[in-house]
Amino acid sequence: MAIRNFTEETLTAEVLRRIEGTPNPRLKEVMTSLVKHLHAFVREVRPTQEEWFTGVKFLTETGHWCDDKRQEFILMSDTLGVSMLVDFINYGKTANATESTVLGPFYVEGAPELPQGANIARPGTPGDPCVVECSVSGLDGKPLAGALVDVWETGGDGFYDVQKSEGTNLRARFRTGGDGRLSFKCVKPVSYPVPHDGPVGKMLTATGRHPMRPGHLHFMIQAPGFDKLVTHLFVRGDEFLDSDAVFGVKESLIADFEKNAKGGYALRYGFVLKPSARAARAA
Ligand code: BEZ
Ligand code: FE
Repeated sequence: MAIRNFTEETLTAEVLRRIEGTPNPRLKEVMTSLVKHLHAFVREVRPTQEEWFTGVKFLTETGHWCDDKRQEFILMSDTLGVSMLVDFINYGKTANATESTVLGPFYVEGAPELPQGANIARPGTPGDPCVVECSVSGLDGKPLAGALVDVWETGGDGFYDVQKSEGTNLRARFRTGGDGRLSFKCVKPVSYPVPHDGPVGKMLTATGRHPMRPGHLHFMIQAPGFDKLVTHLFVRGDEFLDSDAVFGVKESLIADFEKNAKGGYALRYGFVLKPSARAARAA
């Protein structure tokens, strides 16, 4: 029997019927939900043809801005709060484990591994000098020796090295010592805007938002048997802590960058990793 002459009321059911045979059950679940929510969105918004085409053009432009250095779709996900939602769902909150936050687009694989105490900022890098002393432990407080710690940040001018094409700077990889401790030098993080010269920037402006993120230092910490922790430490007192353009701030990640007598800063923080599900099951 031919199935045709759909109406606004019957069309959704027919689209769902056609994907009922999707062999991959997870894909079926995702597609079914996507169709239901997309149709509900269109029913609620009731766009004109012109408005719908404006949306299509926005997504097309977003795609055109993407290349190996710029990921405008991730930026859209970040600025619409979707990246943090995915983070909440997947990393969750565990007792006293350090909380996670967005990875952001400026992590670069293969940063140089530097010895304890090294400065991740090349000489001449703008910014106030800062010494970081941190520790990495498990939930039981036992220090984790040999944990891999990636750190990255902008200079005092608010730019990551990859935005300036000046070679590797302000990023490195370290290993914690036998006592789970790590010390390195960097510059005190400053607030800076997310890239806002593309379609996402237009969206922020059109919705009355600014593109700023509060100053932060990125960390990615990995140790065998523990969940990988992707997080930042934010500068206490930063004016953008309550309006981070990507919704990444969590109270527990706001840290004191204490000014010392020489005009530099010192940061101390203890990271706590949670055991991976497999390690927790085996315990
Ligand atoms: C960042 O912190 O590097 C960042 C995070 C999300 C979007 C843009 C930048
Ligand atoms: Fe950042």
